[in-house]
Amino acid sequence: MNILLIGSGGREHALAWKLSQSPKCDALYCAPGNAGIAQNAICVTLDISDHTAILDFINEKKINFVVVGPEQPLVDGLADAITAEGIPCFGPSKEAARLEGSKGFMKDLCAKYNIPTAAYGRFTDIEEAKQFVTENSLPIVVKADGLAAGKGVIICETQDAAFTAIEDMLSGNKFGAAGHEVVIEEFLDGEEVSYFALSDGQTVLPLTGAQDHKRAFTGDKGPNTGGMGAYSPPPLLTPELEDKILKTAIQPTIDGMAAEDCPFKGVLFAGLMVKNGEPTLLEHNIRFGDPECQALMMRLKTDLVELLYAAATQNLHEFTGRIEWHDMAALTVVMAARGYPDSYAKGTEIKNIEEAELPGDVKIFHAGTKEEGGKLVNSGGRVLNVTAIAQDIKGAQEKAYDACEKIDWPEGFCRRDIGWRAM
Ligand code: AMP
Ligand code: GLY
Repeated sequence: MNILLIGSGGREHALAWKLSQSPKCDALYCAPGNAGIAQNAICVTLDISDHTAILDFINEKKINFVVVGPEQPLVDGLADAITAEGIPCFGPSKEAARLEGSKGFMKDLCAKYNIPTAAYGRFTDIEEAKQFVTENSLPIVVKADGLAAGKGVIICETQDAAFTAIEDMLSGNKFGAAGHEVVIEEFLDGEEVSYFALSDGQTVLPLTGAQDHKRAFTGDKGPNTGGMGAYSPPPLLTPELEDKILKTAIQPTIDGMAAEDCPFKGVLFAGLMVKNGEPTLLEHNIRFGDPECQALMMRLKTDLVELLYAAATQNLHEFTGRIEWHDMAALTVVMAARGYPDSYAKGTEIKNIEEAELPGDVKIFHAGTKEEGGKLVNSGGRVLNVTAIAQDIKGAQEKAYDACEKIDWPEGFCRRDIGWRAM
């Protein structure tokens, strides 16, 4: 098969690494890719928002299968454009991508199909939204309806903070079109866990869980980020909890989407809050987590091309009970540019990556790198994902941090406590 992978982050490097190991993979292209992905795929400069350019490339290279990594192209309908040409594509249709692309859509689906989630209201009017806040208890959570790169959720301790968040969003100034509608919901406490499952629209194939670290600095300090590290499997995820998540959140979502006539094909990434062993759904994402995917791909034994192709072509039932994982733990530490998630320098040189890798034990996925004049430099804020696998999370943590020590990049930093919750 000739495969095209869409994306350029650490998640896509992990996918490229795993896809390229499959005997089914003849040629792997990645648009636009990065310096690390270039070790596993032929990177091509394509504007991924230009569907015509992508379709032309698919024709030219006789691509048989497309895998879309990030959410934005899916929300923009890229999978629809590709499948309309008769090419299988891993990733949901535009309509099904609303599960992540519109928080209001996702909450209404939960309400209709009895999926446990925080009580909520949807608003486009500032005064009505404020009224709702005054009628509910604090803290309260204000969310931009659309995609906001992880920044559209504000947990408000006071009524004033909630009013400000509402004005910022609904006035259209701070979040653009994503904030033209808001969801306001009950604050839930507990411990967060992420769960991943594949679906071909009908069959659900449970994968596994992970936990990530959203705050920028050690000790859960600093601003929220896209994720500074992750590990899998989380000790919190007992077989009983997994069963509850599947029965109360995953299966009813897939069944509900089918009943709504927008079957979900792809990977469903549920974010849940767990309290006293009971999961409540916080959000759905329609893609693999980044950096959760990096830990997942280290643990996966099953051929990724066959698996994702089955999800894209309504054959996932063939894998029921057949998916295999290394019975080990994987942990990934994100190395970011100093200053991230605020402003940071680009183009700083990174050395010793090869010395830090340990085949079979430690893999360094690139998230924001490029090759410049024979040197490896950073091109983004989250730059490297140092990923290790070991008997347990502690072992994986030790190996990952040993590798971080070997990387020579004075302008980079990482949290020192990835995995603490599992220890
Ligand atoms: P979301 O994009 O909806 O996952 O929200 C991002 C993060 O905000 C989540 O991972 C939680 O840490 C937090 N969050 C979202 N909704 C709630 C809620 N209802 N109660 C408490 N925390 C929340
Ligand atoms: N790491 C969180 C996410 O991918 O949304």
